[in-house]
Amino acid sequence: MNKITVVGAGNVGATTAQRLAEKELAKQVVLVDIVEGIPQGKGLDQWESAPIEDFDSRVIGSNGYAEASGSELFVVTAGVARRPGMSREDLLNTNVNIVKSVAQEIRKCAPNAIVIVVSNPLDTMCYVMKEVLGAPRERVLGMAGVLDTARYRAFLADALDVSVEDIQAMVLGGHGDTMVPLISYTTVSGIPVTQLIKQEQLDKIVDRTRNGGAEIVAYLKTGSAYYAPSAGAVQMVEAIVRDKKRILPCAAWLEGEYGYRGIFLGVPCKLGSRGLEQILEVELTSNEKVALGKSAKSVQESIAQVKL
Ligand SMILES: NC(=O)c1ccc[n+]([C@@H]2O[C@H](COP(=O)([O-])OP(=O)(O)OC[C@H]3O[C@@H](n4cnc5c(N)ncnc54)[C@H](O)[C@@H]3O)[C@@H](O)[C@H]2O)c1
Repeated sequence: MNKITVVGAGNVGATTAQRLAEKELAKQVVLVDIVEGIPQGKGLDQWESAPIEDFDSRVIGSNGYAEASGSELFVVTAGVARRPGMSREDLLNTNVNIVKSVAQEIRKCAPNAIVIVVSNPLDTMCYVMKEVLGAPRERVLGMAGVLDTARYRAFLADALDVSVEDIQAMVLGGHGDTMVPLISYTTVSGIPVTQLIKQEQLDKIVDRTRNGGAEIVAYLKTGSAYYAPSAGAVQMVEAIVRDKKRILPCAAWLEGEYGYRGIFLGVPCKLGSRGLEQILEVELTSNEKVALGKSAKSVQESIAQVKL
């Protein structure tokens, strides 16, 4: 790609820009933030690492959208993050206004871009972006499932003492305490995980995955996770830029899939150069269906609070 813009030059945004540049996923990576000097300083600092890290992607920081004009892809990380004791939903009112203003800018400067939303509460912010941008569902996706799945895989790899590379898994549903790790599709090099680990230990891992974000917030105290979240966003970008047709769990706008419509929810998606190319409907156990229903309900309630 010629140009990818990351909106929000905080922890997640700046790390995302750095990862995008190091992987040379675009000739130009633009970093936009409202705080004067921050995107310019971080962008320049990252560009100065290029001769050492050997990349030619030019990172440019800006407080406006002139430099972002014509971007083929945006990663939106603008907004406030959680502090200890806060849920993602506590961020709703502040972040609706921020994401709405970002969507208005994208509509003006790059109306045909693909947008990956990271700001929380994730599924609701995706809704705000899609509504304000007026884009088809192929071009608005949310990053959460990739992160939740990475956490689940990391915990499983620890428990089993095997390589993370050999753990295949998928976490669906909303990005909150109601997320749904699919145990029935969790395998270790094709071996069902239930053959390798006791149910009790698996339940603990599922629980830790659901609280994975809060665990990091409790350690950091002044902010939330950003290394794994930025890696998640970049994995989605890479699938799109390289037209890889990867199957990743992403927040997508449902039009009847899994029995839901009019909400964003984490489901298995095929990502390629057109953005969302397909939603895969897989069979779920009755427990997983119930859990997904609970998750969908909590997203519906969150979206119902939004006044655009
Ligand atoms: N989806 C996920 O899995 C996931 C994971 C981690 C964080 N998050 C969310 O991502 C968001 C960013 O997290 P962070 O840790 O980078 O926070 P941060 O506070 O470090 O950075 C946020 C940045 O957004 C900027 N900003 C605010 N309003 C803006 C606007 N209108 N335009 C441009 N920039 C604006 C701020 O100045 C700040 O630099 C939060 O909402 C957080 O909850 C989501």
